[in-house]
Amino acid sequence: MDSRTPRAVPDGDTLKQLQTARSILQQSRRTAVFSGAGLSAESGIPTFRDPDPQSLWARFDPMKLASIEGFNANPQRVMDWYDWRRTQLAEVAPNAGHIALAEHRELLHVTQNVDNLLERAGVAPHRIHHLHGEISRNRCVAECGFEQEIALENPPGLVPCPQCGRQVRPCVVWFGEALPQTVWQAAEKLCRRVDCLLVVGTSASVYPAAGLIGLARECGSRIIEINPAAGEADPAADVELRGGSAQILPPLLHGLQLQG
Ligand code: OAD
Repeated sequence: MDSRTPRAVPDGDTLKQLQTARSILQQSRRTAVFSGAGLSAESGIPTFRDPDPQSLWARFDPMKLASIEGFNANPQRVMDWYDWRRTQLAEVAPNAGHIALAEHRELLHVTQNVDNLLERAGVAPHRIHHLHGEISRNRCVAECGFEQEIALENPPGLVPCPQCGRQVRPCVVWFGEALPQTVWQAAEKLCRRVDCLLVVGTSASVYPAAGLIGLARECGSRIIEINPAAGEADPAADVELRGGSAQILPPLLHGLQLQG
């Protein structure tokens, strides 16, 4: 799907919820976006936990493919899987949701997504906190300091680190690993200060990232959730907009003057 895809006409309830959400956004002096895999779903990138046979953790074992134990057991298998995801990402485009967000240049983003679709939609990289890393980068498994941007359409595969000779690995956070500390601290600081957090396309089930929604709420932020399905973010939400983010974000954000 892209920005030219025709949109479904929202029903009466959805329109009312949209109006409520727009009025919260209009009053907010500082708005940020917290996103997950659902934001990229309508670009053709599978989510992790949707009740859909194509979702990643329905098809693959996360401990084999997204843990240091899995990498140590079979680095080639892990790198092949990430390279498959990289070439898939190279072939898709930002959807209408990414584009609607990018049109509001002042917004700050905290994302669990390792893809670069927000950047490709036009969001400045320094305005995005990638909590779970970036699939378009490799780094040394031994943390010698080597890190490199790679070509998504032609990833280098499993290669030795040019600095220390160990292997390189994708620059993403695996199960059991800590989040990058500077990114985490910046995201936490932001979520303490926002008046409105737009929570888009996440099951809110992976911590510590998901805890940022509750943190923002405790610090007084309003929460607007966009998700076609009910989930764990619901209790924190002031408004739940049920639908795909490529359908909901354009009418939600159109014409608003947002402050980040
Ligand atoms: P999940 O797969 O857990 O959740 C995706 C969410 O997106 C679900 O709540 C869906 O209902 C929703 N969704 C599906 N289609 C949508 C659409 N078109 N528009 C909006 N929402 C839609 O993905 P995350 O919450 O991002 O970790 O998962 C969190 C982390 O778990 C990921 O960052 C990943 C994974 O293990 C790492 O890669 C380290």
